[in-house]
This record gives sequence, structure tokens and C-alpha cells, in this order.
Amino acid sequence: MADAKKAVLGPLVGAVDQGTSSTRFFVFNPKTAELLNYHQVEIKQEFPKEGWVEEDPKEILQSVYYCIEKTCEKLKQQSIEISNIKAIGVTNQRETTVVWDKVTGEPLYNALVWLDLRTQATVEKLSKSISVSNNFVKTKTGLPISTYFSAVKLHWLIGNVRKVQKAIEDGRALFGTIDSWLIWNLTGGVNGGVHCTDVSNASRTMIFNIHSLQWDEELCNFFGIPMCILPRIRSSSEIYGLMKTGPLEGMPISGCLGDQSAALVGQMCLQDGQAKNTYGTGCFLLCNTGQKCVVSEHGLLTTVAYKLGREEPVYYALEGSVAIAGAVVSWLKNNMKIINASKDIEKLAEQVGSSYGCYFVPAFSGLYAPYWDPSARGIICGLTQFTNKCHIAFAALEAVCFQVREILDAMNRDCGIPLKHLQVDGGMTENKILMQLQADILCIPVMKPSMPETTALGAAMAAGAAEGVRVWSLDPKDLSVVQMEKFQPRIKAEESEVRYSTWKKAVMKSMGWVMTQSSEGSRDPSIFASLTLGFYVVSSMVILIGARYI
Ligand SMILES: Nc1ncnc2c1ncn2[C@@H]1O[C@H](COP(=O)(O)OP(=O)(O)OP(=O)(O)O)[C@@H](O)[C@H]1O
Ligand SMILES: [Mg+2]
Repeated sequence: MADAKKAVLGPLVGAVDQGTSSTRFFVFNPKTAELLNYHQVEIKQEFPKEGWVEEDPKEILQSVYYCIEKTCEKLKQQSIEISNIKAIGVTNQRETTVVWDKVTGEPLYNALVWLDLRTQATVEKLSKSISVSNNFVKTKTGLPISTYFSAVKLHWLIGNVRKVQKAIEDGRALFGTIDSWLIWNLTGGVNGGVHCTDVSNASRTMIFNIHSLQWDEELCNFFGIPMCILPRIRSSSEIYGLMKTGPLEGMPISGCLGDQSAALVGQMCLQDGQAKNTYGTGCFLLCNTGQKCVVSEHGLLTTVAYKLGREEPVYYALEGSVAIAGAVVSWLKNNMKIINASKDIEKLAEQVGSSYGCYFVPAFSGLYAPYWDPSARGIICGLTQFTNKCHIAFAALEAVCFQVREILDAMNRDCGIPLKHLQVDGGMTENKILMQLQADILCIPVMKPSMPETTALGAAMAAGAAEGVRVWSLDPKDLSVVQMEKFQPRIKAEESEVRYSTWKKAVMKSMGWVMTQSSEGSRDPSIFASLTLGFYVVSSMVILIGARYI
């Protein structure tokens, strides 16, 4: 941690980073972009049925309050004045969907996490109803119709949860992604909480028009969503409201960015052509395309990167999204129990230094970019009697790298100018074997900033730069130079190509696995009487362990 004496000299900025696997609160010094202190707590994920992924919105909120409190205690121990914190930014797991009652403040169901697959049948149905030549969803939102985005999750909640239906009828329901849920609560909740979201988070809902920067009536009708429950759209950097309670009471909340946008800002990728790749629960490669909306021809998304101020222009990005990256390590830990902590995977992989022909496609939530196949499921193939847990651990890390190669190839084709190096961040980048493997598989250097918390840094920058706060200058000449650790490719490109082409073969085997419409049934029993849930088919096996050597 930084020297406390330096820190007391100027204003500070705090940032909440509410991720899929954990919540953190950080405090930065805007003059140096130095991290002064932070606190982190894990978030519980629930898997009530095959393919379903939920989190408790109240646990998420409590974790934010707790992290703020703990960080403030740590700062006091460093003799840093809490009153120096002049603004707070919020960054969050994107797409995850919450509906709550504005009168009681209670969530009306668990949060449906972005990875959740319960809407697969809806997606199949809606996709069929749209003509390929006039795909207005794609044109307006930059997104393919997928289980990934909020609109179908909200559609499910409205169709399957009686409490949600009732609250909408009574005019008491509010919808939000995690940023909206947090900001509404932090600014007072039932006592005047501000119901808003920023353009980067809104662009992941599939009902937001990325050209007009407004909710889109046609899309809301298409997904059956009443517009009265939607939050107000704001820029990513402006004062939304003031903290209502806790040690930071009265401080403005003035930055809001989806986590991947925040990492783009935190990695200082503020110019056209600059890109970063974040390895968290999933993996997300974003390339800033400036003020142009670039349409991908290779399975990438067009998304809003940020709009850093009410009067500032909107910036767009091309995005390659991979659903499962760090989550495959968590799966080896929690489900297979072959490691005790995520970092232990490095020791296992190191013991073998190769997967010996074992390939692991972790398509637990279908496949996102560039395939967009919700029917894919995970496979481990190329097994022999020689294979042991170390090879599987190695194959899991290699899978993350191959998936990144796929989205990087797509990005290079869409942009025309191949990236010369890859800027990385996120929890998994602590893993040196993974970073070296990544450089080997991409055949370009991988650059990791010495301060890995770039997601939180981006949110703090947005908050500190807001009108009425102005303690962080985003002028390129004022931005601090980022210290980077560099991983150079160490294997021949031909060797990398052979492994990559075998990976592609494995991917083909994982696709089209769940062909029938999957279970979309509610766990709210009161619903069965009132709704037609014809498709209540629970598919059985999700992980195929192929014993055939490929
Ligand atoms: N040393 C490591 N080696 C491999 N994987 C790791 C390591 N450390 C953490 N991970 C994985 O990285 C993920 C956590 O990363 P991070 O903290 O960036 O995620 P998050 O911010 O909570 O989630 P997200 O940003 O995707 O919403 C976990 O899935 C964990 O299993
Ligand atoms: Mg994160």
C-alpha cells in the first residue's frame, strides 16, 4: 500500500467493483493513480437448476456496505482522512438482472446472473421470429439475441414470477442491472433513491438503442417489457446522487461503468484502436473504435464503451466475450475439488507443462463469441489412461488462452490492423503460467499492468473526472504512465497453430449438444397454475467426457 503521508495531501476517489465472484471497494489517489487500500468479499452464486445461475441482491448490497466500511477502517489505520474521499464510482458485473419493489425496497426475485441459461428456449423462439435480412435487434443494439443479455432475463421474470407481475400491475416494480440496484440503494433506496443507469450498462440490456442512446420502444414491445420500470439513462461520469448512509455519507456518486468499460478506461485505452483483455469469471476483449459504431462480421459485439460526461461524445467498442474463463478454475475447485484455492491450479499445471493431448472446452453456459451457440456444453476430450488431474488443470488454462485467440483473431479481421501486443488485467492474470501460455498461443507479447485493479481504477477515474468533482484529469498528458510486465512468446508459431487447430476440433464436438428446448420452468410454484409452461424438460447430462483420442 502507498505511503500514508503522501496520500493525505490531496483529494481521493473511491470505487465499488461489484464483480460476479466478489465485491471490492478501493480508494485511489488521483494524482498518481495509486491504490491506497481496499477490501474484498466473495459473493455466493446459486445454481438452483441445471443452467440456472442466481445471486442474492441483498447479499450483493450488504457486501458493498461492508467493503466500504472495512476500507475506511483500514485507511484510518494508515492515518488517512476519510473526508478526503471526494467522489465514488461504481462498476459492476454487466447484464445481471434485478427487479425490486420501490415501496419496500425488497428484491422480488434473486438476481439472474449473466451466465444463466434458463432463457435458451425463449432465445431460440425469438431468433426464429426475426428475419436475417432485417435483424432490427442487432442493428439497434449491436448484439445477437442471446441468453447473455438482460432483456430475456427480464422477460422470464415478468412471465414466471407472480410477485414481479403484481408489482408491475401496481406500479411498484423497478428494473435494474447491478449498477442501478446499487446506486438506487446507496442514494437512499425507498427514501428518494435515484433510479438510473449509464450508457455502457444500458447497452448490454438488448432494449437500448446504441445510436439514439435511448430505451427503444420497438425492442421493449418485442421482449414484452413495460418501459415504466426502466431506469433513467445517464452518462458514465456525472453526479447521480449522494451517499445516504455509512462512513462516506454525503459523498457524490459520480461514475458508473460496466466492468469491461471500466477496465478499458482503467487501462487508459481511450483512443481508437486501443484494446484490453480482462480475465475474470469470463474473459472480455474490448477494442475502442472511437466515435464510430463498427459492425462485426466475425461474431463480435458492438457496444457502448463510455460517455465520460453529459456533454462528452459517446465512444464505442468492439467486444469479444467469452463466458467461462476464471469460472473453469472455480469449477475445478468447487465441483471437482482437485484444487483448494484458484491459485493452486498453477502448481498442478506446472508439474506437467503440457496437457498431453487433453482438450477442455468449458462451454458451461453455451458458447459466446465468436460462435454464439447456446446449445453447446462442456467437454473434456483426448483422454487416455495416462491423463491425470494435472493435465486437466493444464487443459483448463490452455482453454482460456485458445478462447482468447479466437476472439483476437475475430478482432484482427474486423479491425483490419492486427494487434501487436495484448494488454491484460483481471484476477486470473496473477497466474504466470497462464500469461506465458497466452503469449505462446497468440504469438504476440502479453502486457500486464503492475496495478492489476484496472476495473476499479476506471470507475474511479470516471467519478473523479465528473463535472462538479473534477479531481481527476483525463487529459492524455496528465494520465500516469502504466508500468507493465511483459510476457514474450517462447514457442514457434507452427507449434502454436497445431495446438490451436486441435482446439477448434474439440470446439466442434462441444456444439449442438442440447438440441431440444431446455427447461425454463419457474421455481415459483404458484406460477404453474397461471402460466403455460409447456417446455418443462430438464435435460440430463451437460458435461461429456469424450474418451476417444483425437
Ligand atoms: N491464480 C489464479 N489462477 C487462475 N485463476 C484464478 C487465479 N486467481 C483467480 N482466478 C479466477 O479468476 C476469477 C476471479 O477473477 P476476478 O476477481 O477478476 O473476477 P470478478 O471481478 O469477481 O468477476 P467478473 O469481473 O468476471 O465479474 C475467479 O473465477 C477465479 O477462479
Ligand atoms: Mg471483475
